[in-house]
Amino acid sequence: MTTAEQPGTVYLVGAGPGDPELLTVKAQRLLGSCDALVYDSLVPKEVLDLVPERCERRFVGKRRGHHSMPQPSTNAVLVELARQHRTVVRLKGGDPFLFGRGGEEAAHLAARNIPVQVVPGVTAGIAAPAYAGIPVTHRRSGSSVTFVTGHEEIDKRRPSVNWRALAAASDGLVIYMGLHNLPRISEELMAGGLAAETPVAVIQQGTVTGQRCLKATLSEIAALTIAQAFKSPSIVVVGEMIDHQVEECMPPPAAVTMPIPF
Ligand SMILES: C[S@@+](CC[C@H](N)C(=O)[O-])C[C@H]1O[C@@H](n2cnc3c(N)ncnc32)[C@H](O)[C@@H]1O
Repeated sequence: MTTAEQPGTVYLVGAGPGDPELLTVKAQRLLGSCDALVYDSLVPKEVLDLVPERCERRFVGKRRGHHSMPQPSTNAVLVELARQHRTVVRLKGGDPFLFGRGGEEAAHLAARNIPVQVVPGVTAGIAAPAYAGIPVTHRRSGSSVTFVTGHEEIDKRRPSVNWRALAAASDGLVIYMGLHNLPRISEELMAGGLAAETPVAVIQQGTVTGQRCLKATLSEIAALTIAQAFKSPSIVVVGEMIDHQVEECMPPPAAVTMPIPF
């Protein structure tokens, strides 16, 4: 029996990048036994199918043509469910703490004395390039890689990304949510000293059947993604490690589907 005084536990669980076989064993166990599930976009149907019939489900993601539920409302849903159920799974695409707002949700729950546990997931920034045959680091191509968001927040309390400094400081870049701003990002990286010939790869819908991969130089990539109608969700990888990939772009996996909400 759970109450406001003795709430259940909220597990912030990484769902991985799309291929359900990349779910962790712990995530699979929790999904198979949870009393309530809170999920959003980019969670594959095969993963949702693991949840028992009796489980209360709440969708808080973006529906086609609409915005996601605002973060305070999602936080409120988590608190409400933790006060009603013993085991609440908050499922998030990839890893919950990497551009997933998991940190905000964990802090909100902890401040209300609701037990929280984090179950890390396989992040799209490593898995999507890997399925395309691209290692995000390579011993012969430097010693650093940076995970960075290409989505500039309207919220000015957060400093914007200094692409010119990153061009000089990091051997490789893995850019989340970078497709829309790719023309400006590539200009900034070249202004920061990256050669126009630097290899770049874009992987759309990584790890599932619809996976597409495009490889080009830094000066060409933005125009090509527009011409070839690349869409979200896509990961952009920048750096010489791309030249060590196994083949041009490894083919997408067969028969792995993912709902694309936008
Ligand atoms: C809000 S971030 C969430 C990242 C997630 N927490 C993770 O660790 O992968 C969403 C972005 O992740 C990237 N992404 C997520 N799934 C992807 C996939 N299957 N293929 C390519 N990019 C993906 C895209 O850049 C997308 O816009």
